Amino acid sequence: MKITVFLGAPGSGKGTQAKQLSDNNGFVHLSTGDMLRSAIKNQMPVGLKAKSFMDQGNLVPDSVMIELIEEALAPLPETSKVILDGFPRTVPQAEALDKKAKTQVSQAINFEVPEPVLVSRLTGRRTCPSCGESYHLVYIPPAKKDTCNKCGAGLIQRNDDCEEVVRRRLEVFKSQNQGLVDYFSNHKKLINLNANQPVNEIQNQIIKALNQ
Ligand code: AP5
Repeated sequence: MKITVFLGAPGSGKGTQAKQLSDNNGFVHLSTGDMLRSAIKNQMPVGLKAKSFMDQGNLVPDSVMIELIEEALAPLPETSKVILDGFPRTVPQAEALDKKAKTQVSQAINFEVPEPVLVSRLTGRRTCPSCGESYHLVYIPPAKKDTCNKCGAGLIQRNDDCEEVVRRRLEVFKSQNQGLVDYFSNHKKLINLNANQPVNEIQNQIIKALNQ
């Protein structure tokens, strides 16, 4: 299995890029945020454990997240090319992946975006509750107001995209990020990416990096 992890702040564009790679290039896209939101919607035990942490912009405990990702990776064939979007978020999560031969990380792409841009991307984000497509009110608007281009469902704003929770998520990110960057840099797996560019330009750069 070839595992690439996407590191980066909330709003840095990890999900947007991972979705394109999965749609067009055969990658398996595992987003821990999407997995948790689906578990909450379906009232599964892991969703009930995670909800209050997510609503406040805090991280869900490592033990819960490591079990969740291990369960998602276990059934995948050895030949899979996997993008992990939103995992690892802490050094113990990164170590848990590297502990097992099957799930060792090949490379970590670090999405770098200035903070004011992150705040504006997150507070303007709208998502489709039905197919998961992501939009932005200004940068990537849907063709028809508040309506998903792909499936026609009404778009919503995520609970944790209000400005107060966005600020908390960015604080939490800053408290964990340097440790993760150092971890992957020490393992010679870190690739820094300027993610404050148009979506297609970033996609091209990621594809180049993944093919090297
Ligand atoms: P999660 O869902 O993973 O949220 P996040 O990391 O905060 O990331 P986002 O989804 O907000 O941002 P993104 O980088 O994917 O950006 P996107 O592409 O959507 O996690 C949510 C919560 O779950 C966490 O707070 C935590 O509680 C919990 N959790 C999840 N994983 C966990 C873990 N491993 N451990 C512990 N807890 C965990 O883009 C954002 C916006 O910008 C969109 O509107 C998009 O259209 C727009 N945009 C994207 N790219 C561009 C561009 N190049 N130019 C202009 N606009 C762009």
